[in-house]
Amino acid sequence: MTRRTVVTMPGDGIGTIVLPQALRVLDAVGFEAEYVEAGIGWEHWINEGNPLPERTVELLATHKVGLFGAITSKPKDRAAAELKPELTEKGYVYFSPIVGLRQRFNLDVSIRPCITFPGNPLNFIRRGPGGTVEEPRVNAVIFRQNTEGLYAGVEWTNPPAALRRAMEQHPKFKPFANVPGEDLAISSRIFTRTACRRICEEAFAYADAHGYAHVTICEKPNVLRETSGMMVEEGREVQRRYPNIALYETNIDAQMMWLTKNPEDYGVIVAGNLFGDIISDGFAGLVGGLGFAASANIGTDVGVFEPTHGSAPKYAELDPPIVNPIAMILSATMMLDWLGETGKATRIRDAVAAVVAQGDVRTYDMMKLRGGPDVIAQGAATTTQMTDAIIAKLG
Ligand code: NAI
Ligand code: MG
Repeated sequence: MTRRTVVTMPGDGIGTIVLPQALRVLDAVGFEAEYVEAGIGWEHWINEGNPLPERTVELLATHKVGLFGAITSKPKDRAAAELKPELTEKGYVYFSPIVGLRQRFNLDVSIRPCITFPGNPLNFIRRGPGGTVEEPRVNAVIFRQNTEGLYAGVEWTNPPAALRRAMEQHPKFKPFANVPGEDLAISSRIFTRTACRRICEEAFAYADAHGYAHVTICEKPNVLRETSGMMVEEGREVQRRYPNIALYETNIDAQMMWLTKNPEDYGVIVAGNLFGDIISDGFAGLVGGLGFAASANIGTDVGVFEPTHGSAPKYAELDPPIVNPIAMILSATMMLDWLGETGKATRIRDAVAAVVAQGDVRTYDMMKLRGGPDVIAQGAATTTQMTDAIIAKLG
């Protein structure tokens, strides 16, 4: 077996807490790798005016696989105010380094599995007939286009004159034609056929490999005719190659209603960037929330794996740490899957499932407690104890 090198980017806040826990589990399962740590996040912004140092980019370009914890982002003016004094006049503008990574390496496919672990007190439940309570088993895997759409960053307040003139060619722009520039904000939703095709292909290939009977495209083509329309067109095209996998089409608004009504009806779901962001959080909320939400960012040759949660600064300084490491650990299993180490990935997921099912070791979020130092006295496991329990269950 080749020994891999994995670039670790703990980042800020609880990213620095949960990432080392994932490495403990990877070691315990027998994954052989070298780890090189690379800087990313707020410290680098303050001290270098760049939250995504070139060295980090180079390490990823070399080693192709990264584990990422979380970063802290702040609004533009707050970011500028915290910059080291000697850097303030240099014209640095803050940008999100994880969005930067997705763009630099064209990590255009985001995968976010939202799968129920039976026994998790945070699982969605609903009332059934005759006052019964049902806990539907959710098994949804969201494929989110990760680089385009409304998050591509092509936007203006007070758009340049040439752009305004071009917009005026569109009959639907009429009601906005007399709005003063400073009162007019435009964020553009850009879809390309190549990216639509790729996210749909990845979704169908995954459904095929994992035995899902259908893929749901969740967009809004009746209103967003051009962009959503293109995604649906490509989805239908790709589906022709998978006669055994049905294609369902839903609208994002209706989907948000249905996901709490009949979440068990969904399997692989594919969507553009914003809608994929929304539905993946929606489904994550049914299976444990941020403590459980894992994700992969995958390009043609680079993969970066990260929990969905952020840096949760208010919990970063607690000693012992109390945050749930499962989202990060599950993100590491997605890395193993991507590297072809599915046996080890499955062993880790089974160990997580066993700990959750047994219910003796639960972090504060699983006990529905408000986070703080006193949760330990109330019976919550520390971050490390949760990891220990998972390692103990590795078969
Ligand atoms: P957050 O995800 O950091 O935390 C929100 C709340 O979720 C926390 O206060 C905590 O109650 C809970 N939580 C998060 N992770 C948890 C875990 N592992 N275990 C248990 N509970 C957990 O989001 P927030 O507070 O909106 O943002 C904090 C910072 O993180 C901001 O600077 C934001 O910009 C950044 N952020 C970074 C992301 C990334 O690195 N990909 C994603 C989201 C936010
Ligand atoms: Mg989100």
